[in-house]
Amino acid sequence: MTKRKTPEELRSHRWYGVNDLRSFGHRSRTSQMGYSREEYAGKPVIAILNTWSEINPCHTHFKQRVEEVKRGIWQAGGFPVELPVQTLSEPFQKPTTMLYRNFLAMEVEETLRSYPADGVVLMGGCDKTTPALLMGAISMDLPAIFLPAGPMLRGNWNGVTLGSGSDTWKYWAELRAGHITEDDWQGVEGGIARSPGHCMTMGTASTMTSAAEALGFTLPGFASIPAPDSRHAQMAAKTGMRIVEMVWEDLKPSDILTAGSVDNAVTTCLALSGSTNAIVHMIAVARRAGIELTLDRYDDISRRTPVLANIRPTGEYLMEDFFYAGGLRAMLKELGDLIDGMQKTVNGKSIGENIADAQVFNDDVIRRRSAPLMPDNGLAVLRGNIAPNGAVIKPGAAAPHLLVHTGRAVVFKDYNDMAARIDDEALDVDEHSVLVLQHAGPVGAPGMPEWGQLPIPKKLLQKGVRDMVRISDARMSGTSYGACVLHVAPESFIGGPFALVRDGDLIELDVPQRKLNVLVSDEELARRQSEWVAPPPRFTRGYGAMHQIHVMQADKGCDFDFLQRGGAGGPQNAGEPEIH
Ligand code: FES
Repeated sequence: MTKRKTPEELRSHRWYGVNDLRSFGHRSRTSQMGYSREEYAGKPVIAILNTWSEINPCHTHFKQRVEEVKRGIWQAGGFPVELPVQTLSEPFQKPTTMLYRNFLAMEVEETLRSYPADGVVLMGGCDKTTPALLMGAISMDLPAIFLPAGPMLRGNWNGVTLGSGSDTWKYWAELRAGHITEDDWQGVEGGIARSPGHCMTMGTASTMTSAAEALGFTLPGFASIPAPDSRHAQMAAKTGMRIVEMVWEDLKPSDILTAGSVDNAVTTCLALSGSTNAIVHMIAVARRAGIELTLDRYDDISRRTPVLANIRPTGEYLMEDFFYAGGLRAMLKELGDLIDGMQKTVNGKSIGENIADAQVFNDDVIRRRSAPLMPDNGLAVLRGNIAPNGAVIKPGAAAPHLLVHTGRAVVFKDYNDMAARIDDEALDVDEHSVLVLQHAGPVGAPGMPEWGQLPIPKKLLQKGVRDMVRISDARMSGTSYGACVLHVAPESFIGGPFALVRDGDLIELDVPQRKLNVLVSDEELARRQSEWVAPPPRFTRGYGAMHQIHVMQADKGCDFDFLQRGGAGGPQNAGEPEIH
């Protein structure tokens, strides 16, 4: 039988359980909040890190859900303490939530370190909240369970089903091309997001909450439940109950995370045809646990993983349909030997045990392995003389004829340059051109925003062009589509060779061969390199300055160098400072 902790072994015992002057202060101030000793003495203190705020539409139900989590914690004999943390609201935070992902990860780690937490419920879902919460919790390594926000319901307008993001880009292009009216556009605006929950296409949110489940951080099946469903509320209470037991069992992230569970999560992202953002996040999450997940490993897994989830933008349906079709458990079961069933999860069982009885109820939504949406290669890692450390593309989201393509570069030196000139009638561009956006990476943008789906120039849209090869050191929303090469590393702003591409250069993209090159001689590139002048820093103070000094490149997950396991090449963390 597993050894269980005693109340005296709880981390919170130092705050509440001993008899000295400091613990007197903790207890008297707990009394001030209306609790008597009987309510908390000897119980595990469960921190509930809630990313709710009035500016995060994906988490509007978290105000209610947190009460359900607390209900579960009380019933299981724990003492819940809700602690608000940064909200990282994808639609509102500028220039990008990605700039602040590591900020939230640090806040999670330091909040847990500095308060009397024995275990933690992580409440997130909107894009960056999931990786940030996981990264911080992994580094702190207290028993931790993730509560996914759940996808919102399908969008609806004039009888048409709308998907977050994907249909925004689609109808925006139709509006610019003059195919729909301003009234139509306002109809889309009112109907595309009509319930609590995160984006319900296979964007970063659905990808990362599913990855969290595949890693073993949620109770089984929970990542797929739509936010407004009553089963989501039940899930919240069960999550609260389970974390109390996890504390007594001392079941920590380090007991769950292995190279095998990371592979399971990567396989899941690929079988979902998930967001390209998940590559950056999964690398960062794995590195926090000391597991070296490389782009090459990602590419290897991609070559063997079929796309089974028929969800937009690669497929046809939405997360609500995915849930009714059996959800993530059913898809993992269908993946069979591609999932390592022995990996442990937060309920103490293996993932294999958790999915043993799962069934597919609609095999158009969750495809059988014998009839996948794509047989393999949902994602490709490219290398070449403008991306020596890698770049990525999602072939399934691109027009097939562009996957092997050579075209003339049309270079934008940054986002403002692109915004000013993209619709200029005089822009020397045609459908064969390759649009290049520089200075859009982790340091240069800053924060590597989702600018990688460059708009098609208006004059080409009006000719019916809907896809072109686009290359950047930016990211792209998981709800986007198109022949967009992303995450070029090293980025142009810090002098990566991508900075050397000029108007008119021929660029060769060959996805089957995993190649991305500018067809310019080495001598000419060396000459351009010698003339390259570093731009002035984006920040001179504050968090931004820290970010630009310490953020690593996309192929390393964009974590801060001092936050990965062992810090910047230094020794392992010496452990928690002594608690007084
Ligand atoms: Fe929150 Fe898309 S805006 S998940």
